[in-house]
Amino acid sequence: MLRTHTCGELRTDNVGEEVILTGWVQRLRDKGGMLWIDLRDRYGITQLAFEEGLTSANLFEQARSLGREFVIKAVGKVVERYAKNDKMATGDIEIRVSRLEVINPSKIPPFLIEDETDGGDDLRMKYRYLDLRRSPVRHNLELRHRMMREVRSYLDNHYFIEVETPVLIKSTPEGARDFVVPSRMNAGEFYALPQSPQTFKQLLMVAGFDKYYQIVKCFRDEDLRADRQPEFTQIDCELAFVTQEDILNRFEGLIRHLFEKVKGVHIERLPRMTYADAMKFYGSDKPDTRFDMRFVELNGIAKNKGFKVFDDAELVVGINAKGAAAYTRKQLDELTDFVKRPQIGATGLVYARVNEDGSIKSSVDKFFSAEDLQAWAAAFHAQPGDLLLILAGPADKTRKALNELRLEMGTQLGLRDKNVFSPLWVVDFPLLEWDEHSQRYHAMHHPFTSPKPEDIDLIDDRPGDIRANAYDMVINGVEVGGGSIRIHDRRLQEQMFRLLGFSKEEAKAQFGFLMEAFEYGAPPHGGIAFGFDRLCSLFGGSDSIRDYIAFPKNNSGRDVMIDAPSPIAQEQLDELHIRMKNLPH
Ligand code: AMO
Repeated sequence: MLRTHTCGELRTDNVGEEVILTGWVQRLRDKGGMLWIDLRDRYGITQLAFEEGLTSANLFEQARSLGREFVIKAVGKVVERYAKNDKMATGDIEIRVSRLEVINPSKIPPFLIEDETDGGDDLRMKYRYLDLRRSPVRHNLELRHRMMREVRSYLDNHYFIEVETPVLIKSTPEGARDFVVPSRMNAGEFYALPQSPQTFKQLLMVAGFDKYYQIVKCFRDEDLRADRQPEFTQIDCELAFVTQEDILNRFEGLIRHLFEKVKGVHIERLPRMTYADAMKFYGSDKPDTRFDMRFVELNGIAKNKGFKVFDDAELVVGINAKGAAAYTRKQLDELTDFVKRPQIGATGLVYARVNEDGSIKSSVDKFFSAEDLQAWAAAFHAQPGDLLLILAGPADKTRKALNELRLEMGTQLGLRDKNVFSPLWVVDFPLLEWDEHSQRYHAMHHPFTSPKPEDIDLIDDRPGDIRANAYDMVINGVEVGGGSIRIHDRRLQEQMFRLLGFSKEEAKAQFGFLMEAFEYGAPPHGGIAFGFDRLCSLFGGSDSIRDYIAFPKNNSGRDVMIDAPSPIAQEQLDELHIRMKNLPH
């Protein structure tokens, strides 16, 4: 037997038992006549004890010679500790070792394998298998596992069937860039890796599967950020014969189930906000609703008072940072610098403090009378001690900038607690989005999304105003999932492709299979996909999804451990019919 117990399970009940433990040497403390080793495995840490007089001289020397991360086997007796450690599950006992065996020695690890490590990001990624030995990282993956199990359990209970869809598919121009895979057997042709199983899940509905799900890898060649990886995992779902209402209820149920089972948190029914309101009141289609601080528009009361910045602006809009009137000049200058950063792009920041006596002091006092400022305060429902922060400029850009400022203030005022969860649905997204660069409409969600029936008449004259039966789930300002009711009618789908600038031939070449399927009895259907990595990081309280992926890519899309991507041999290139240009190195 290699071991009788794990390093996490022995307690005082086991005192007196002969046990065999295996694991990694986490730490060795040598006090001359006494020596202790923390032995670690996935389940915990158990202390091994050696004491001159009780331990043979040979064994003592052998223990002393062990290095960090050696894999060892220890045979010994469980004894009660003199000095108990209530921070450890096994802290009441230790093993008085009678025999040690080095199963495999270890080089000195390049960073400390402890909860707090001295290893930088790059080093930890290069030696990810060592980083994964650390308990915080392992706990993240354990959380991921529990989440996955609960997702399967919930969907299984609701008659969903998990179906795998192919990974080598066809490249399509919508959405992000595809990762492509050259075909050896079909010279000059390429597969693409799926950005999502969208068309397949719709075909499964045509096939009568009724309720499908898949926990599935998706691939998108896009710029990476903390919440984006080139390969990531979706909980992908599709249902037939459903309304939007059915879908929202079912998947709100999934999220509540996950919170309940995984975090022990009870979530109320999810509020719903239209896209239009989200943009108007939060400047974002993924508002962080852990705190209020809604936008207040001031066009009616702040314009035409001789302050050119406001007078010339399409929109004057602000937020009430409650209780922040004590902000110093320096802090306000920093906020001004913050909104003027090129990524945010505001031209300046106007502020007004509501003093304890109710009087108001603003940065634009010379343009506005005391009554004007009182009217502002009333619009913001401001109280003494509040700070009003106001931006002005083109409407969309100003809302976006104010969204950033709102989030920053939320952070500064401690309103974005990671242990508070505020999920909601954002509904009624526009169907289309105008793209200045290509001078054409793009599908805001994807081209298979169905317009709201009551808006279909706008299709020729005001396509930009058509709303879609599309929805996102947002938690704490993170878009965790999105979906829509689909088009299931060939004619409407053709019309949609036309709107998106596809010629009839292009639409047929790319999506002919789907449109043909619609002619063989396609049921009405719709669905949703959740970003599983994002859900895990949110549940775990981290901003980075990388922490919840066993072997993630870095921000340049590289796996630095296996060193991928990497060049391939000329022979392989030849087989794939690929001729390389001279690449800069
Ligand atoms: P969508 O493109 O909105 O919808 O993707 C669904 C969810 O996947 C997550 N996500 C990502 N997570 C990590 N890294 C990425 N690069 C990344 N990109 C997206 C987000 C997002 O909400 N087929 C449709 C769904 C449907 O209509 O049913 C789709 O893929 O959390």
